[in-house]
Amino acid sequence: MNVVNSSGWRPSMGEDGEASALPETCSGDHALMLEEPLIFELAATEGKCGVDFEEVEAEPVAGLARFLRKEAPALPSLAESETIRHYTRLSRQNYAIDLGPFPLGSCTMKHNPRLNEKVARMPGFADVHPLQPAASVRGALEVINELAVWLIELTGMHGVAMSPKAGAHGELCGLLCIRAAHEAKGEAREVILVPESAHGTNPATAAFAGYKVESIPATADGRVDLAALEAKLGPHVAGVMITNPNTCGLFERDMKKIADAVHACGGYVYCDGANFNAIVGKVRPGDLGVDAMHINLHKTFSTPHGGGGPGSGPVVLSEALAPFGPLPFTARDEAGVVHLVEENNAGAFGHTQAFGRMVAFHGQMGMFTRALAYILSHGADGLKQVAEDAVLNANYVLRSCEDVLSAPFGSAGPCMHEALFSDTGLAEHFSTLDIAKGLIDEGFHPMTVYFPLVVRGAMLVEPTETESKVGLDRFIASLRSVAERARAGDESLHAAPVYAPRRRLDETMAARKPVLVWKGEANPAD
Ligand SMILES: Cc1ncc(COP(=O)(O)O)c(C=O)c1O
Repeated sequence: MNVVNSSGWRPSMGEDGEASALPETCSGDHALMLEEPLIFELAATEGKCGVDFEEVEAEPVAGLARFLRKEAPALPSLAESETIRHYTRLSRQNYAIDLGPFPLGSCTMKHNPRLNEKVARMPGFADVHPLQPAASVRGALEVINELAVWLIELTGMHGVAMSPKAGAHGELCGLLCIRAAHEAKGEAREVILVPESAHGTNPATAAFAGYKVESIPATADGRVDLAALEAKLGPHVAGVMITNPNTCGLFERDMKKIADAVHACGGYVYCDGANFNAIVGKVRPGDLGVDAMHINLHKTFSTPHGGGGPGSGPVVLSEALAPFGPLPFTARDEAGVVHLVEENNAGAFGHTQAFGRMVAFHGQMGMFTRALAYILSHGADGLKQVAEDAVLNANYVLRSCEDVLSAPFGSAGPCMHEALFSDTGLAEHFSTLDIAKGLIDEGFHPMTVYFPLVVRGAMLVEPTETESKVGLDRFIASLRSVAERARAGDESLHAAPVYAPRRRLDETMAARKPVLVWKGEANPAD
C-alpha cells in the first residue's frame, strides 16, 4: 500500500517492510520529517570530532596506568552540527505538551507555566546541594515549608511528608504510616481493601508493603459499593485505599460514610489524591475523614510528570497518623503553627514515632519551587477556578462526543475532571485502539486507553484546565471524526497512523522485550 494524503504527504514506512511499495528513490523521508538513523549508524566516517581536545602529555598517576584505554572508545564520530541536527530531528518526532494537548486521563499532562520554570532555575533554588549546611539554604527550606502549609491548608490535614518522589512512592509512605499506627496499638492487621476501579499502583503498593489486597466491587454508576465494602470490614482490615475523584472521573459521594465505617472498625482511610486537581479549593479531604493522601504535584500543581523519577508525591496526614510521618516531616504544633521537623528537633516537637525516612534528603526542590510558584500565581481563589475549569472542560468533551462514543456513566450526571468513553457501539472489528491510532493521524496524542478496567475498551480523556475552548473544539472535532469512521466501519482506519514517523508497532514486544542497547549492526536486537 502506498497511501498519499490529500496534501500529497507520503506516509512513513511501516515495520512490516511496506517501504518496498514506495518509489525506489524513496529515502523514507517526507516533508520536513526525516527518517532518522541511530547516531551510531549516522557516524559512517571515522575520525571526526565535535570538539578539539588538547593532547595530554602528563604521565598517568602512579598505579592508575593499567586503567589507560588501549583503544579509543566506540563513540560515534560526528561534527557538532551533525550531532545537533540528529537530536533536533529526533525531538521533532516526539509529541509534546508544548505542541498540543495530552488528553491522557489519570496520567494528566498539563501546560507547565514558564513562570514556574523561571523560578525553579533561580540559582538559590537550582544550585543548592542537599549536604549544604542548613544555615546556607534557609530560603530553600522556607519554600518547602510554605508549600507544606498550603498543602496542609488545602487538604484540611494535620501534617505532610514532603519527601516522597512520586505518587506511588507517596502511597507507600501512607501505608507505612498506617502500619506504624497499628503496630503502636499492638495490632497486626493484614488486609487493605482496594476498589476494582483503582489505579494499578494502589494494589501494587499495598502488596509491596506486605498487605493482602481484597477488592471491592463498583456499583452500576461507577462508584465504590458501600454495602460490599462494609461487608468486608473487620479487625483484620488495616485500611482502605480509595481514589477520589475516582478513575471513572466520578466523585465518591459516600466518602464520609466509607471513612466512618472504616474508622469504626479501627482501620484508616488512604485516599489516592492523584485527582486532587478536580476538587482543589472546593473540598478538603480531611473533612471527609481521610487519614493519608498523596498529592501528585504534577497533576494538580503543574510540575512536569516525573514518571517516578524526578517527580514529587507529598503525603498529607490526619492528626491520627501524623505522629508516624517519616522525617523530615512538616506538622502543626499545639498553637497551630507549622514546623519542619528533622532528626535534630524531632524530640522537641514530640515527633518520636516516625517510621523512618522515605529518601535520604528533603525531596524534589525543583518540583517544590514549581508547585509553589503555581499556587502563589493563582492564589486560593485561582486554585478553585483551576478545579472548576478542569471539570468544565471534561464535561464539555463528554457532552460533545457522547452521541458518537458511548459514555458508560454519562447518564449519572456531570463528570469530574475526566470524560470516560467505551468502545461499545463501534463497528465489528473496530476497537479503542483504532480510535487512539486514528487520533495520531489527526495530530493529537491519544487519550488513556483500556483503563479503568471496569469499563469495556475504556477511553479516558482528561483535557485539564489549561486547554482553551478553541483547542478543545479542535480536539473534539478530530475525536468525533475518528469515532464516526469507527462506527461506520471505515477500513482505512485500521491502517492508522499513516502520517506518523512509525505505524502500528508490536506493543507487547515493545513492553516485554524492549531493545534498549545498540549492539552493533550485525545483531542489533541481540
Ligand atoms: C490515580 C493515580 N494514582 C496513582 C498514580 C501514580 O502516580 P506516579 O506516576 O506519580 O507514581 C497515578 C499516576 O499518575 C494516578 O493517576
